[in-house]
Amino acid sequence: MRNLTSVFFVAAVSSAAAAQLHVSTPATSMLLDATPGERVEFVYYGPALSETDIPSIMAVEKHVDAYPVYGMDAWNPYAFAATHADGSMSSDMRVESSSQQTGEDGSVLTRVHLKDTLYPFFIDLCYLTRTDSDIIEMWTEVSHGERKPVRLTEYASAYLPIRRGDVWLCHLNGAWGNEGNLNQEKLLPGIKTIRNIDGVRNSQNAHSEVMFSLDGKPDERKGRVIGAALCYGGNYDLSVNTDASAWHRFTAGIDSDNSAYDLEKGETFVTPVLALTYSEKGTSGVSRNFHRWGRKYRMSHGDRERLVLLNSWEGIYFDVNEPVVNEMMADVAEMGGELFVLDDGWFGDKYPRTGDKTGLGDWVIDRNKLPNGITDLLKSADEKGLKFGIWIEPEMVSLYSSLYEKHPDWIIQAKGREPVYGRGGTQLVLDLGNPEVQEHVFGVFDRLMTEYPAINYIKWDANMPVKNHGSHYHDAKSQSRLFIDYHRGFENVCRRIRDKYPDVTVQACASGGGRANWGIMPYFDEFWVSDNTDPLQRVYMQWGTSYFFPAIAMAQHISASPCHATHRATPMKYRIDVAMSGRLGLEMQPKHMTPFEKQLCKDAIAAYKKIRPVVQLGDQYRLHSPYDGDGVAALMYVDEPRDKAVFFWYKTQDFHNHHYPRVTMDGLDPEKMYRVTELNRIDNAPLDCEGKTFSGAWLMANGIDLPYRHQVDVDMMSDYSSRVLFLETVEL
Ligand code: DGJ
Repeated sequence: MRNLTSVFFVAAVSSAAAAQLHVSTPATSMLLDATPGERVEFVYYGPALSETDIPSIMAVEKHVDAYPVYGMDAWNPYAFAATHADGSMSSDMRVESSSQQTGEDGSVLTRVHLKDTLYPFFIDLCYLTRTDSDIIEMWTEVSHGERKPVRLTEYASAYLPIRRGDVWLCHLNGAWGNEGNLNQEKLLPGIKTIRNIDGVRNSQNAHSEVMFSLDGKPDERKGRVIGAALCYGGNYDLSVNTDASAWHRFTAGIDSDNSAYDLEKGETFVTPVLALTYSEKGTSGVSRNFHRWGRKYRMSHGDRERLVLLNSWEGIYFDVNEPVVNEMMADVAEMGGELFVLDDGWFGDKYPRTGDKTGLGDWVIDRNKLPNGITDLLKSADEKGLKFGIWIEPEMVSLYSSLYEKHPDWIIQAKGREPVYGRGGTQLVLDLGNPEVQEHVFGVFDRLMTEYPAINYIKWDANMPVKNHGSHYHDAKSQSRLFIDYHRGFENVCRRIRDKYPDVTVQACASGGGRANWGIMPYFDEFWVSDNTDPLQRVYMQWGTSYFFPAIAMAQHISASPCHATHRATPMKYRIDVAMSGRLGLEMQPKHMTPFEKQLCKDAIAAYKKIRPVVQLGDQYRLHSPYDGDGVAALMYVDEPRDKAVFFWYKTQDFHNHHYPRVTMDGLDPEKMYRVTELNRIDNAPLDCEGKTFSGAWLMANGIDLPYRHQVDVDMMSDYSSRVLFLETVEL
């Protein structure tokens, strides 16, 4: 795991007096005008520019404010606002200097240092680029030397003017069990705001990532698209203001409502990163940029293949007990699984966790359920050739818990008001802004890992929002720091955990997909996409989520039929094929599977191990969107040398004698020949294409004609149909 702070910058490559700043990545350029004494101006963002073009572009293109601040142009949208020590709400920031420094790894940090014309008040606009990524990481640093604190009331990470035209916005929204839905809408005059104020889980409803398609209705494969991801685990506000100007004015940052921040003299307020990218290969092209950058720079173990696991939740819920857990472990080992994860329900002594009303906070083994403790489970897992993982929800506490009895003042709660409960009518959020609470949360993880060093995987859950704004820890003046300090506290804990336990795999779960965000991913290996494991709905949710996150980060599990969330019955083959397009796992009681289903899973796990490097580390090409509504979804992964690929095809609607679109492939080498093998086959006869070889050129121009139904015995017929094709180059 690396992040920007680990880069050591060595050489300044441009002088402090430079006016023109070229922020460049291999395929993109951003031009800024940082003339000393003037406001910093944005000139261009798009495909890479040649140095010879830049002078004319700088002379001719419109220059607009690159980071508008509130005060001297108060009627216009702004990215930043502050109340100075003397009560003035006006700022006027001018360029004092700028620099570009190259790090030892070749990354370049561009910094524009702004100073207010009246006050010792400073804003640094920062832009970090790397040699091998088309992402620009943008953030802002604010500091001052005024005699009293300056109150920050708006503090966007970045601002980007986007030329008006037929510009469409893509963004994700949803709800519990329905996360990651894709929305695409044309930007019209007015303000479009994407916002989250949950306090804890910031991707359950809205997401802090967007794309702008510049050439009309978004296309997965073509067209100019800008992508932007705010890397922050807390509340956010992403707004596009389309006013009378020639621009869609995009601002992105922490949501500042109810979060005014009093900045002390000498303190630096650093905003989260906004990761910006651009592609001419449609929305799928922007996704690939995010995926590659994320795997390399912004997530834990982005280069390490994930294990195939069985998670106990949907299989046994709170009914944890030793014989059942042992049986589940034996079953998953038999199917070729590599890891068993014991979910909720294993802990609590005075208040055992028998349901969702008790026990959170008391992270001790429930000896009634597990008389021989975790030591025995670890031993048993090891004997079966499995790794072992365990669930915790350390940021939370139950009303019925010893922890709450001992520390009632650790919860988030307005002084003098009643607690407001969440899950189970008893759950409360701990105030992570409080260093003692941080110590407790770190201790939960640390004690487990110290006592049981063989634990390989932690599922870290968080199941309620901040409801009752208030902190016992903060004084009367600092109550508006609650949300920001919560996430600073969370990050402190995560950082400490990663310093001490760099190897353990950690999943971010928050009532399902509530923590799918690049802000937390430097500390987490993956996230749970949703508590809804219905494969049909998952096709849509996974599609949307993949706009910004790579397959290696997306936990996708095969579950029981009918699905516990939707009660829809689906064939095992369809459930397997949908789960296999990400990080594969199981989420069910294997003893309820038929021998046929077990065999299918066993074969699928074996097949997955073969394609795992391609799915988890390859490039994703989304080919045909389920959101187009014509009954088919298809995507594929291609490895870096373009020697291996995996093609996934799902029917999403079934109509008799209907014609479904034929899907063409992408990302292959047109010159290479690929042999096709179907994985997870259930048909009585192989597909016509089985074992045949095709050129990449043919596959990308024509694809493969696929039957709409499976050729199976009548008792196995269903309205679902899916295919997984493995493509491997052959020398002819
Ligand atoms: C919510 C999670 O999303 C589920 O996967 C499961 O871990 C439960 N919490 C356990 O309470």
